[in-house]
Amino acid sequence: MPINIAIDGPAGAGKSTIAKAVSKKLGFIYVDTGALYRAVAYHMITKGISPSDAEKTAEELSKLDKGFFSLRFIDGAQHVFAGNEDVSDKIRTPEVSMGASAVSAIPAVRKFLFELQRSIARENNIIMDGRDIGTVVLPDADLKIYLTASAEERARRRYKELAEKPDCPAFEQVLADIEQRDYNDMHREIAPLKQAEDAVLADTSDVDLEGAIDLILGLIKKHCKV
Ligand code: DC
Repeated sequence: MPINIAIDGPAGAGKSTIAKAVSKKLGFIYVDTGALYRAVAYHMITKGISPSDAEKTAEELSKLDKGFFSLRFIDGAQHVFAGNEDVSDKIRTPEVSMGASAVSAIPAVRKFLFELQRSIARENNIIMDGRDIGTVVLPDADLKIYLTASAEERARRRYKELAEKPDCPAFEQVLADIEQRDYNDMHREIAPLKQAEDAVLADTSDVDLEGAIDLILGLIKKHCKV
């Protein structure tokens, strides 16, 4: 039986950086499910469909093959595809972030992506991160971690990343976006972000990246046979 580790938590908590590093150390596949919601949002935007238009989004999905959005692992790194297009880099814009938050509230979108996530977990030792992995996608995961940090700290980290790119928004905007996404993710009707009852809470507000990686690695070694 493959080992499945679920990491959920709000935007910018460091889930992907930490999960990526820990997966590498353990030889596990890291699965970033947010990339799938981003790919759906990106596809809708390129089709001229608003990511908050549930009806048109569902209609567009009904025209696509089940495997239209896919994750491929190239040299251990996850690439996300929309059809034959590798959209891994194009989905990291603030517009797509907001769009992903919007499409993720649409039941048809979650249904479309559910089986894909499950099938990857069935076949591989994985660390999968997202918002509903411990609560919905992998309720029987070997270990569930709820990884969080204060909104200010998460905004500071995101701002540092964005500051290296052109068109960097102001810090206040980055913080407002994080708070808005937290609200959206925690208050949507379907699969809202919340800590699973049997998840371990890990707060990284006061630890640096190395400290957070050690913390998560320690939890995995304590709870799983790795
Ligand atoms: O982790 P991220 O920022 O790349 O996620 C983008 C959006 O996708 C986020 O606002 C919420 C949504 N999401 C979700 O609803 N469920 C998941 N398992 C992963 C992401």
